[in-house]
Amino acid sequence: MMDIIYTLAVIAILYFIVCLLLILLGDCDLLLQIAERFGKPVSVLKGKVVWITGASSGIGEYLAYDLAKAGCRLVLSARRKEELERVKKQCLLHASTSNITEGDIMVLPLDCLKLDTHQEAFDKVLEHFKQVDILVNNAGRSQRAEWISTSLEVDREMLELNVMGVLSLTKKVLPHMVKRKEGHIVNMSSVAGKFGKLYNGIQRQACGHASLTGWFDCLRAEVFYDNIQVTNICPGPVFSNILDTAFTANQGEELKGKMNPTEKRMSTSRCTELCAIAIANKLHEVWIALNPILLITYVNQYCPNLYKIITSRIGMSVVKRVREGKL
Ligand SMILES: NC(=O)c1ccc[n+]([C@@H]2O[C@H](COP(=O)([O-])OP(=O)(O)OC[C@H]3O[C@@H](n4cnc5c(N)ncnc54)[C@H](OP(=O)(O)O)[C@@H]3O)[C@@H](O)[C@H]2O)c1
Repeated sequence: MMDIIYTLAVIAILYFIVCLLLILLGDCDLLLQIAERFGKPVSVLKGKVVWITGASSGIGEYLAYDLAKAGCRLVLSARRKEELERVKKQCLLHASTSNITEGDIMVLPLDCLKLDTHQEAFDKVLEHFKQVDILVNNAGRSQRAEWISTSLEVDREMLELNVMGVLSLTKKVLPHMVKRKEGHIVNMSSVAGKFGKLYNGIQRQACGHASLTGWFDCLRAEVFYDNIQVTNICPGPVFSNILDTAFTANQGEELKGKMNPTEKRMSTSRCTELCAIAIANKLHEVWIALNPILLITYVNQYCPNLYKIITSRIGMSVVKRVREGKL
């Protein structure tokens, strides 16, 4: 009996050590690491119609390149048409080996804040492609301001864009997917939505990514028998233009911040490479982040009390050092 207990204990310790090493050496959660090595290639998405919001810059832009390379037909949406046209041209270059032609990439300007325009936008997509296989809710704005000084109007606008905009567009597309008994909703969330982040707690934790993760977890269960997949993607810090347009404490203001190239952030292309793998393998939730953020996400998930003890004592200084790229 003691022998069996001893053997099981050794196996458990070895399993723990291997997992810890993979987390420390990796840049995404363990399931995504397995999917990257042994799962389906992104090319299984060939021919799918993918609607990406926030495709004019950052993560949405680079995801469009990855999916174009895989042979997907794309709808590119954001507010700036000229930027979307630029991304379309780049997509066609990336797609030179996948037989994608100009008609396979639709530029569809859309302000996600204007909920009353979503139906018209969806109708245009159906007119062009007749179907939507995958909706990637990626458009969003961050915030840099303290809770106490942020005006309620800013809170409301963030909710409208980062939460209501996503729910509204998804509700337009969902009945079509349910009718076809096929579809995939992808929500660009954030690891910060898992454990909160000082200085942008409002958008990140309380009302933005965290609530959407919950919303989409409910949706996943409801549409399971309609053959509809739901994927929550949670990246950590990634290079993009998100600081440029980030909300501040005051209505109508944009931060106009620039990312320091020495900051410890993941490259946009690596992030979207992993996003595309997560979509191809229909994973429910993935974490994509460099360390120590990836490790912190695991500690928060599996040892929440330890996480709270650590962050309440050293949280602010750690966040500052991560921001400055010193950790
Ligand atoms: N970068 C990070 O570190 C990070 C980490 C975790 C999660 N995320 C999430 O990833 C998503 C993409 O962000 P990003 O980092 O790639 O930032 P980004 O480079 O600033 O891209 C944001 C995209 O959203 C679009 N957008 C903003 N307001 C919009 C509106 N009202 N209607 C339609 N489109 C709008 C922007 O296009 P237009 O200005 O042309 O409209 C742009 O294409 C966001 O949801 C963000 O919260 C980012």
